[in-house]
Amino acid sequence: MDIVFVSAEVAPYSKAGGLADVAGSLPQALAPYVDSVQVLTPLYGQIDRNKYDIQSSQTTGEIELGDDTIPYALHHTVADDKKTKIGFISCDRFFARDGIYTESDGEGFKDNNLRFFFFQLAVLDLITSGHISVEVLHCNDHHTGLLPLMMKIKMPHVKTIFTIHNFLYHGHFSTGDVNLLPDTVKPLLTTTQWGNHSALLEAIDHSDLVTTVSPGYALELLAGINVDEHSLARIQAIETHFSGIVNGIDTEYWSPEIDQYTPYHFSKDDLSGKQKNKEALLLKVGLSPDLEAPVFGSISRLVENKGFPLINELLDEYVSLGAKFIFLGSGSPDIAAELRDASRRHPQHIAFDDGFNEPLAHLIEAGSDMFLMPSRFEPCGLNQLYSLRYGTIPIVHRTGGLGDTVEPWTTDSGTGFVFEPYDLEALRKSMKTALKVYHSKTDWLSLVQRAMSMDFSWDQSARQYLHLYNL
Ligand code: GLC
Repeated sequence: MDIVFVSAEVAPYSKAGGLADVAGSLPQALAPYVDSVQVLTPLYGQIDRNKYDIQSSQTTGEIELGDDTIPYALHHTVADDKKTKIGFISCDRFFARDGIYTESDGEGFKDNNLRFFFFQLAVLDLITSGHISVEVLHCNDHHTGLLPLMMKIKMPHVKTIFTIHNFLYHGHFSTGDVNLLPDTVKPLLTTTQWGNHSALLEAIDHSDLVTTVSPGYALELLAGINVDEHSLARIQAIETHFSGIVNGIDTEYWSPEIDQYTPYHFSKDDLSGKQKNKEALLLKVGLSPDLEAPVFGSISRLVENKGFPLINELLDEYVSLGAKFIFLGSGSPDIAAELRDASRRHPQHIAFDDGFNEPLAHLIEAGSDMFLMPSRFEPCGLNQLYSLRYGTIPIVHRTGGLGDTVEPWTTDSGTGFVFEPYDLEALRKSMKTALKVYHSKTDWLSLVQRAMSMDFSWDQSARQYLHLYNL
């Protein structure tokens, strides 16, 4: 079986969020079980071609987009497993710039629709011209949402599967943009209730199978939670071939025993390294190295739906109880300003690093006691999985993948603190319980050890994808 996996971002080459982690690790987990796996993604200007040994190939093509004819070229490398091929599509006009989706100031590129139309047409061209052979085409998120329809028109025998990583992002495009697409595609598109088109919903309509990244989130979507009526009708129409498969993680890259970014290694049987990492972390972010103080870590895009309005309300109160907070992430300037203010008010207790910092992310996972992830909704979430592995106890809202992966604490079971409904009181209560357990050393130790015993490697989920590919 030949699998082609298409994604707008793939770690470690390009990363804006969790999609990249999945696109970087799932194909390698599938590789041992299939004939070939090839990942296709754009060659952004920021990708370091030398570092990843990305080679040019003879394969090139031209894409017609409206009145323009625009050339592309294929480049490749192999992933760490030496089996998974990574194909990069280059195009000066659309991908030579550094950003994946946005300018350096965070503003989305004006031509994003064109960029990803082009990308998808290039993928289609590579397949229809025979340069890439495929039996199952696995598309991810709206940047690849028109491919299932295009494949249905050109190569209906190829099976298409589409994974929704976040239903919030539709990739809306206008009727004007439609004119750029091939004539065969235009009449088959559906207009939304806003009079435009949604690449995400097109994928839902036209893929052979649709998945999302946790069973809990699949149920929420089918129940219409955070879904408008028009979209709901289109999801409910595919209920029989829609399912949720929880994401796995790369258990070597995120391993407390061998983590390349953390100064001290540890395991559930010897946690001394975790304490040393805690000290290193506090010093690194400029907080006083008080090892008794409970430390809450957070690594997140700074957006409302990750729960920042709630967290912000509770900071002063928990600092007065002796807690420390370390935030890493970028996004909304307003949320960044609030976190900066909080760290100025409490320079020994709150640290905020505005940006993307992979080594610090690993140190936060390794050195914090608890991980704050009170997302209003969360399709899967990966940081709570990394946290469990590092014995950093997650505090999560019971939603989507968070509810599926974190078991609520009781005196002798559970792996984290799970609250509902999504409001200040429920979060406050669960942080209170967390502090109480933290101060009871034996309860905390068994909680940490239970968390670290969980297995979120890809194997089980990869098997579920293989099952779908074979259906
Ligand atoms: C998106 C979702 C997140 C999920 C990730 C990978 O970023 O918001 O919940 O874990 O995709 O599937």
